[in-house]
This record gives sequence, structure tokens and C-alpha cells, in this order.
Amino acid sequence: MISEINAPPLKRQRTGIEIIEIPDHVIAVSNISKGFLYKLLEQAKVMKYLVTSKGGDDRLKGKVLAALFYEPSTRTSCSFQAAMQRLGGSVICVNEKDSSAQKGETIEDTIQTLSCYCDAIVIRNPMKGSALLAASVATKPVINAGDGTGEHPTQALLDVFTIQSELGIVGSINPSKPMIISVVGDLKNGRTVHSLVKLLCLFSGVKIQYVSPESLSIPDEVKNELRDKGLEQNVVSLDEAIVNSDVLYVTRIQKERFTTLEEYEQVAGCYVIDAKLMEKAKAKMIVMHPLPRNSEIAKDVDKDPRAAYFRQMENGMYMRMALLDLIFSRPV
Ligand code: CP
Repeated sequence: MISEINAPPLKRQRTGIEIIEIPDHVIAVSNISKGFLYKLLEQAKVMKYLVTSKGGDDRLKGKVLAALFYEPSTRTSCSFQAAMQRLGGSVICVNEKDSSAQKGETIEDTIQTLSCYCDAIVIRNPMKGSALLAASVATKPVINAGDGTGEHPTQALLDVFTIQSELGIVGSINPSKPMIISVVGDLKNGRTVHSLVKLLCLFSGVKIQYVSPESLSIPDEVKNELRDKGLEQNVVSLDEAIVNSDVLYVTRIQKERFTTLEEYEQVAGCYVIDAKLMEKAKAKMIVMHPLPRNSEIAKDVDKDPRAAYFRQMENGMYMRMALLDLIFSRPV
């Protein structure tokens, strides 16, 4: 349930349809207004009910989504495909390895091509800024599914939906007792963390704690943005975070972003959350992870009811259904 205090009032037209700002593209968290976020959170719940009660419906019949992936993906790619199919639409999947990118085609030319065939484009690419580049030439809405070490805005949306679903609220109504959200691991390269902490600026009563090796600290540009928006943030050890956190958001050390194997090996396995460590955590703390995981969350945590990461990935489909529904309802 969205907090009455957090939720902004929604204006209504004579038709009963709420007036919300639906962005042309979803490239970064900065494209997501508070009103749009709250509408998405509300709509994701509706989508969850729709799927669990009757599997889906046909509201996106005739719509085609292009899913253009230049980097591996299981959850983002499959949940976007499932979301589209559950709403009656269809998907063109383009994997870089089987595409004309192999013949040297640029992102811009590929996007212009897909704009001819589909109604929206989801793109994942290893280059930071690639989704923005795609949007600059697209004639259809572009959704960023991860641009290198940049952002992953739809992951942040499903993450806040998960926090809300698990804890009943995002943030706190008591300023002296904020919700403590600790982000752990590769904060330098982890685009999911960059998007999540920025999105959390739209809520009140949130405190962010950073847990990482020095070499994988949160980038200054992200920290400065949070500071300018007044979000409380500090650096702590895992020992401190495990005791006081309401949400422990664990991330993988991103081997593919390191320039040498030696550098990676210096930090690989630096944090491991296991059942023994979980004994020190609050009874209602939740453990999240965008997945895939390596060794940073031991298998023995999976059966702990506080392990929310598999519920989190399920929420990805509901949130992406909500997003596609709203993007396609936008006047052209
Ligand atoms: N969380 C996430 O982006 O997972 P995938 O890489 O499997 O899409």
C-alpha cells in the first residue's frame, strides 16, 4: 500500500483518467516523475492481480515491441517478452550476435530500422549513453534495459515495487527513524544501484548506506546528485549494515567491467551474505539482489523468508507490464 503521506494527489480528468506525465522515452530515472512512479506502482499491483487471476489480457493486441540486446540477459529480456505476451502484444527479439551489428551496423542505423517495424524498443548495450543515443534517432519510445555502467531504470522501478510489496511502504513517515537501505558490492559499475538510489530520492524518510571495497565506491556524480536532493547517505561496513538495515541490496562484482583479471580477483568474493550472518539481521529485514548472483549470497539464505530476491525478479514482469501498458496508452 502506498503511504498516504508519500503519495502525491492525482488530478483527474472528466473521463476519470488520471493526468500523469508519461515520458517519451525511459532512458534514466530522471525521466520518471513522482506522479508516473506512483501510477506505475499502482498499475504493477493491478498487473499482478491480472496475471494471477487470469494470466493476462489483450490490451496490447497489435502492438509490437523490439527487444534489442547487445549484452547477455535472462530476467530483463524474458520479463519484457513475457510482459508483452501477457498483454496480447508481440515481440521481435534482436540479439546482437545474429544481427547486422556483426557487419558493422551502428546503433543509430539499427534503431532507425527497428523504428519502422515496431511500436517501442527495449535496448541493452555495454556502452554508457547508448540508450540516449538510441532515443535521439528513434521515432518510437525507447526503454533503457541497461547501458553499461550507466543506468537500468526499469530495474529500479521493480526494486521499489518490491520494497513496497515486502515492507508496506518505501521510506518512513517518522523522520527520526528513516528506512535504512544498504547497497552492497560493486557500487562503481552496478547500474542497478545507480538507478535505485536516484529513484529513492522521490521518497521521504530514506537513508542510504554504501558497503563496498574502496575501489568499487559509488561514483561521485551519483553521490552528489543524492546530496543535492537531500537524501541522507553514508559509508558503512557490512557488520554495521547487517545489524541496522531494513533492506540489504546486494550486488555482483561485475567481472566483465574490469580491465584486468588481476584487478577483479583483488575484490572477488569480498562480501558473502550467508545464513550465519543473517542471524544478526533484523527479523523484518529483506535481502534483495538484481540477479544474476555469483558467490555474494550463499544458497543457504534462499530458504530464509527474508530472502526477497526471487520475489523481486517475479515483480519485474508485473512492473514491465505496467510500464508497457502506460507507454502504449500515451497519446502519439
Ligand atoms: N537484473 C538483471 O538485469 O538481470 P539480467 O541481466 O538477467 O537481465
